Amino acid sequence: MLYGGLTLGDVTLVYGEAETGKTSLAIQCAVNTARSGYKAIFVDSDGTFSPVRLSQIAQKDTEEVAPSITLVKPTTFQEQALAIDRLDEYLTKTVGIVIVDTVTSLYRLELGQPKKTFTLNRELGRQVAGLAQIAKTRKSAVLINSQVRNVFLQGAVTMEPVGTRVLKFWADTVLNLKLTGQSRMLKAVLEKHPQRKRSTSCYFTIGKTGIRRHRR
Ligand SMILES: Nc1ncnc2c1ncn2[C@@H]1O[C@H](COP(=O)(O)OP(=O)(O)O)[C@@H](O)[C@H]1O
Ligand SMILES: [Mg+2]
Repeated sequence: MLYGGLTLGDVTLVYGEAETGKTSLAIQCAVNTARSGYKAIFVDSDGTFSPVRLSQIAQKDTEEVAPSITLVKPTTFQEQALAIDRLDEYLTKTVGIVIVDTVTSLYRLELGQPKKTFTLNRELGRQVAGLAQIAKTRKSAVLINSQVRNVFLQGAVTMEPVGTRVLKFWADTVLNLKLTGQSRMLKAVLEKHPQRKRSTSCYFTIGKTGIRRHRR
């Protein structure tokens, strides 16, 4: 669906509810980048990156790929800002991917104070613009995960990421991961892609070794 994977120089936004495979996909991208001989920077803002999950996904390659994955663990939205601002300092030609999982969790912790909403949205925009800039100038792939909650609109249930417009504006590729109601079965909707004119979708499952396309 993605023509082989994430594109160097592009920002890919993956959004979906909890448990839709965002972190699994992100770890898989880090592992596959490392397998190709490049480094991955994983900004773990959710604090859910686990070595156990990494070894399940990397399997026999774990010891080989783990040193190529740099973990950054911000605990506040300000720390996340600092981490993103500093990326340029430690990005080398060998960095193939920068991952932020998820970009909105620490931001969300601070929402709710009405006066701060404007400032927070502006700061989120600044961070995502910075990531897009890194993708373009460093020719690396950028994967941004965002968790969304249900929004009830006139009886219909639609999904909207927090700060949707900001994130979608900067993303070259937008992938929406959805629960299907069937256990272990999820749906990926490709909403935007530079090489696809129309949206397309597929089904997938999450297992021990990561996400896998479901073939019917
Ligand atoms: N080792 C595993 N074996 C099978 N399924 C797993 C394993 N680890 C995670 N999962 C599945 O993946 C889901 C969570 O995926 P995750 O990538 O953390 O989603 P998200 O980041 O969107 O919340 C869990 O609900 C579980 O069904
Ligand atoms: Mg997650």
